[in-house]
Amino acid sequence: MTTASNKLDTLLQETRTFQPSEAFRAQANFNDVSVYERAEADPEGYWAEQAQHLTWFRPFEKVLEWNPPHAKWFIGGKINAAYNAVDRHREGARKNKAAIIWEGEPGDSKVFTYDMLGREVDKAAHMLTKLGVKKGDRVTIYLPMIPELAISLLACAKIGAIHSVVFGGFSSKALRERIVDCDAKVLITADAGWRRGGLIPLKQNADEAVVDTPVEKVLVVQRVGEQSGAQMQEGRDVYWHELYKQVPNTPYPAEEMDSEDPLFLLYTSGTTGKPKGIVHSTAGYLVGANTSLRTVFDIKDSDVYFCTADIGWITGHTYIVYGPLSAGATVVMYEGAPDWPHRGRFWEIIEKYGATIFYTAPTSIRTFMKWGTEYLEQYNLDTLRLLGTVGEPINPEVWMWFHEHVGKGKAPIVDTWWQTETGAAMIAPLPGITSLKPGSATRPVPGISAKVVDEEGNEVEPGNGGYLVITKPWPSMLRTVWGDDERFRNTYFGKFQGIYLPGDGAHLDKDGYFWILGRIDDVINVSGHRIGTMEVESALVDHPSVAEAAVIGRSHEVKGQAITAFVTLKDGVEQTPELVAELKQHVVGKIGALARPEEIIFTAELPKTRSAKIMRRLLRDIAEGRVIGDTTTLADPSVIDSLKTMYKDSE
Ligand code: PRX
Repeated sequence: MTTASNKLDTLLQETRTFQPSEAFRAQANFNDVSVYERAEADPEGYWAEQAQHLTWFRPFEKVLEWNPPHAKWFIGGKINAAYNAVDRHREGARKNKAAIIWEGEPGDSKVFTYDMLGREVDKAAHMLTKLGVKKGDRVTIYLPMIPELAISLLACAKIGAIHSVVFGGFSSKALRERIVDCDAKVLITADAGWRRGGLIPLKQNADEAVVDTPVEKVLVVQRVGEQSGAQMQEGRDVYWHELYKQVPNTPYPAEEMDSEDPLFLLYTSGTTGKPKGIVHSTAGYLVGANTSLRTVFDIKDSDVYFCTADIGWITGHTYIVYGPLSAGATVVMYEGAPDWPHRGRFWEIIEKYGATIFYTAPTSIRTFMKWGTEYLEQYNLDTLRLLGTVGEPINPEVWMWFHEHVGKGKAPIVDTWWQTETGAAMIAPLPGITSLKPGSATRPVPGISAKVVDEEGNEVEPGNGGYLVITKPWPSMLRTVWGDDERFRNTYFGKFQGIYLPGDGAHLDKDGYFWILGRIDDVINVSGHRIGTMEVESALVDHPSVAEAAVIGRSHEVKGQAITAFVTLKDGVEQTPELVAELKQHVVGKIGALARPEEIIFTAELPKTRSAKIMRRLLRDIAEGRVIGDTTTLADPSVIDSLKTMYKDSE
C-alpha cells in the first residue's frame, strides 16, 4: 500500500483539533457524550429508540435477527418510506413547508411544499400503476437532477416497487446492463438533460438500452422539448405530462411494506467487471438515513439543507431524498454543474435560499480552492452553520480551506465515511460533541461498531493501521447483492467470519480516531465515484486493436485518483495518438464519461508475476514516479525499464 503509506505520512503529521463551540454545543440535538456509551451497551435498544422517529403502520415485534451475514431488522413491522418522507408531514404543521427547493441549470426554479410534493408523488404512483407496475417490480430510473427524479423514487416507494436509479452520466450499454440484471419492467427517463448548456441525449441512450430487455414501458419526462430530438415509440413510450392528465387526482394509499421488503437497488462497482446491485431494505435503511440526519447533521426544522450529490449515487438517495425528507427538512436540489454558467454557482444558491447545511465532496472543494476565493467572496454565506464532506479522504489543507473560507471558521465540518452498501454515515463526528481533526472522519457514530484489524482479524493497537471492519450488524446495511447472494457473502464477509469488510484501509490514532486511507482492492475512487479497474479493462479489451490492458488509479490533485491504462496492442496495430483518443472514447461508450482514462500508455508487455498476475502495484509506482522497489517476483524484470521510458515519453 505505497500510496496509502504516503498519505499516512502527511495525515499523521496533523495535530490540529477543533472543539465544538459553546454556541453550537448548546443548540445541538446531541450534546451529551453518554449517547455513545448507551448505544454501545445496548445497540438494539438504541436503534429501537431511533426507529420511534418514524411512523409505523404496525409496530415491530423484534429488533434484530442476526444469522451472519444475513440481518433482519424491525421484524413484524409495517412501514412505507414515501409515507414517512412526505405524507406524514402533510398531515401536520409542515404541510406548507418547503420540502424541495429545486434550482434548474438554466436558472429556472421551483419550490414544492410537502403538500405539493405529496400530490405529485400520488400522481406518479397512479401513473406507475397504470403502466402495470406492482409491488416488488423493478423500475429503472435514468433522469437528470429534475424534481421528477425525486418524485419517481418516492412514487416507487409508495406503491412498493423497487427502484434502481442509474446515474445520467452512464452510457446506454451501462444502463442496459443494469436493466437486464434486475429485470426492470418500466424505465423512467427524460427526452434529454441539460449539462453546461449542452444536451445529454438520455432518451436516445434509453432507446438503445431497452432493446431486447424486459422493459415494457418507457415513461418520458419532457425536460428539454423539441430541441432534444427524442423519438417516441408507439405502444412503448409515453410522456409523463400526458399520462399525468389521464390518472386520478386522488391520494394514493401507501402500500404497507414489511420492514425487510427491499426499498431499492443501487449498482456499484466492485473488483470484477460486473456491477453489483446493492439491495437496501425499507425499514432499516430508513431508520439509518433518518437517524443520521438528526445525529451527524443536527437537523432542525429551520434548516435549509443543500447536498450537491446527484441522486444517481447513494449520497443523493440518503441525503437529498430519504434522510432530509423523512426528517421533515427543506432540501435544495440543483440540476447543474458547479461552474455553469459561472464558478460561483453553489455560493449563489446558498445565498439565494439561505442554506444552513452544505454537504459536498472533497474533489469539489479542491476545485474551488484552485479557482480561488474571489468567487465565494461575492456571496453572503453567513447562513451556513454546518458543513459536510463525503466520498473520499479529505486532505487536511483542503479541510482547513473549507473551514476558513466557506465555514468562516465557525461552522463545524462533518467528514462522513460510508458507502453505497452501508446506506448511511458510519464514521463521522456528532458536531455538538466530537472534537474535529482535519483529515479524520473521527469515530463511529452511536450504534456502529467499527474497528481496525490486522490480517488475522485481531484489533490493532492505537497508533497502527490495517483493515477497516464493522463488527456488528446495523439497520441500514445492505441485505444482499441482487441475484447473487454468494457474491454478497464472499465480497463482504469472506475474509473475516461474521464481520463486514468495506474494502478500505484505515489507521487508528492514539485517541481512537479513524483515518481512512482509501481502497485496498481494485477499485478506483475518481472524484468520489467508485470505478472498478476490471470494468475499464474489460471495456478496453473489447476494442478490436487491444490485446491486453491493465488499469490503475494514480494520485490526482483534483480528482483524488485518476485512471491510467497500460495497453498492449494486437500484432501489427500502430501506436498513434488517434488510437489513444479512440480507446478513451470506447471506454466512454461502454461505461460513461466518468470512466474515461486520463492517460493510455502503450506497452509491448505488462509486468507480470511468474504466475501470470499483472502487477498493478508496480504500474501505480511507475505512474506516480516512485522508485521501484523489489521486482524479483517479476517474470521479466526488463519490462519495467521499457515501461518507465514509455510513461515518461507519454507525459
Ligand atoms: O473508499 C471509501 C470512500 O468511498 C467508498 C464508497 O464509495 P461509494 O459506495 O460510491 O459511496 C460514496 C458515498 C458514500 C468508500 O469505500 N469514502 C467515502 N466517504 C469517505 C471515503 N473515504 C474517506 N473518507 C470519507 N469520508
